[in-house]
Amino acid sequence: MNYDVIVIGSGIAALQLVANLRTDLNVIVLTKSKLSTSNSSMAQGGIAAAIGSEDDTYTHFVDTMEAGNRLNDQQAVYKLTKAAPSIIEDLIQRGCSFDQKEDGALALGLEGAHRHHRILHSGGDQTGKSIVKCLRDQIGNNVTVIENLFVFELLIGQDQKCYGVKGKDGQEDIHTFYSNHVVLATGGCGNVYALTSNAATVTGDGLALAYQAGAALMDMEFIQFHPTMLYIQGRTKGLISEAVRGEGAVLVTDEGRTIMDHHPLGDLAPRHIVSQRLYETMKKGKSVYLDIRSIDNFDQRFPTISKLCISNGISLSEGLIPVAPGAHFLMGGIQTDEKGSTTVQGLYAIGEVACTGVHGANRLASNSLLEGLVYGKKLATHLNKIAGETNSESVLSLKTKQRARCLPYSLPPLKTLQQQMMQHVGIVRTMEGLRAHQQWLETFNLEPLLDMELEALSKHDISLVFSLITAWLITSSASQRTESRGAHFMNDYPFEQKAWKQKHIVQQRRKVKE
Ligand code: SIN
Repeated sequence: MNYDVIVIGSGIAALQLVANLRTDLNVIVLTKSKLSTSNSSMAQGGIAAAIGSEDDTYTHFVDTMEAGNRLNDQQAVYKLTKAAPSIIEDLIQRGCSFDQKEDGALALGLEGAHRHHRILHSGGDQTGKSIVKCLRDQIGNNVTVIENLFVFELLIGQDQKCYGVKGKDGQEDIHTFYSNHVVLATGGCGNVYALTSNAATVTGDGLALAYQAGAALMDMEFIQFHPTMLYIQGRTKGLISEAVRGEGAVLVTDEGRTIMDHHPLGDLAPRHIVSQRLYETMKKGKSVYLDIRSIDNFDQRFPTISKLCISNGISLSEGLIPVAPGAHFLMGGIQTDEKGSTTVQGLYAIGEVACTGVHGANRLASNSLLEGLVYGKKLATHLNKIAGETNSESVLSLKTKQRARCLPYSLPPLKTLQQQMMQHVGIVRTMEGLRAHQQWLETFNLEPLLDMELEALSKHDISLVFSLITAWLITSSASQRTESRGAHFMNDYPFEQKAWKQKHIVQQRRKVKE
């Protein structure tokens, strides 16, 4: 089937794109699970926008640049933060709602590294769910949605352009879709780590697909670890929003000692700093808790978190939630320009899978939903001008590939990969650990598989291959950056180095350049 636009993924960036595309365009949304399953739906904290009376978009810009250790693309940050108030206004016009104060003004929360209260939220801590539902309700008749469809290949022509995708349904049957405009909105890669806040579906597929197709990826070493996942018996059970610390909760050890007093921003220091502190504290054998005893009506302000705690046997009346850091967000991703175009013609990327340069070395809290909304809309504006032409002719010139009949070697289970990533490419890294891990990943000899047709493999096996490729991209990038910056902390290179200032690691098949 031919479509004007193919969208892969169903998070906030995908839905914002679809909501803003022309209604005469024939659009298809392909999602690996349910339309309602995404990291965006699980986002608690909110959306950052400088709309408070004491706030301004320039301060939001400065906070974003500082959180990103100034590796950010300054122009992109300027435009993102400037667009934020009107993006919120747009959502309100569409019928999306945000929590209000008693006087009817929008309630603005505070999160780490923000100089002002500027986090809009909805349903207390159900911001993502509420916005996603609001945007989903806008999907028109011109949009076909196919759930449980795992996209395993981008169709690339002899001319290196992208012409469509192949996917497998629940029965492993193969479906092919053609379009001159294919959009990856597949989210990040939290599940290549053992501890994560991400939905189980977020395994790095879009990143591996783009790499396989020859697109450039950038800043893959920058993985943000959120300091506070609910942590029970060595496993993370879901996010405890930073907004909880914004309302006054503090991190304490099992002896009741606070752990963030050394930093001027205390418990609201940038995420990588808080996560590193938790890592060091836990390494000494101590447990860490979020002390919520100072927050009145906790269950009303944070209904989702309250339910999560109670269902995991944590008593809110005792006021101590056991926490640990987990992989939360990828700052890097598929390199895109302002419109969302990748380096492969016809292929676009938006949301977490994309690297627009706005986050630099570490993302500021609540800038991710904002990025998805701003770039989803920008891409819609671009596609509204150019989409709608036919593409059947080009379908004849697709590259031919040799078919992989089975995996040529036995791959490690995902669980082993996740543990290895946590240990070697986690919150604190060493060159020795990174190199050993990279060598281990390279023993699986994945490169030849990237040139093959994978359709004879099961969805499970392809997904595992994609996670291994994504893990390799993160690891090889991390082992090149011989400094610490933002979320990339190297024990053997603990400081920022001038030589790396403004330098990005770009990875492209058979081409690695700085
Ligand atoms: C949170 O609520 O702490 C997460 C929000 C974000 O990642 O920006």
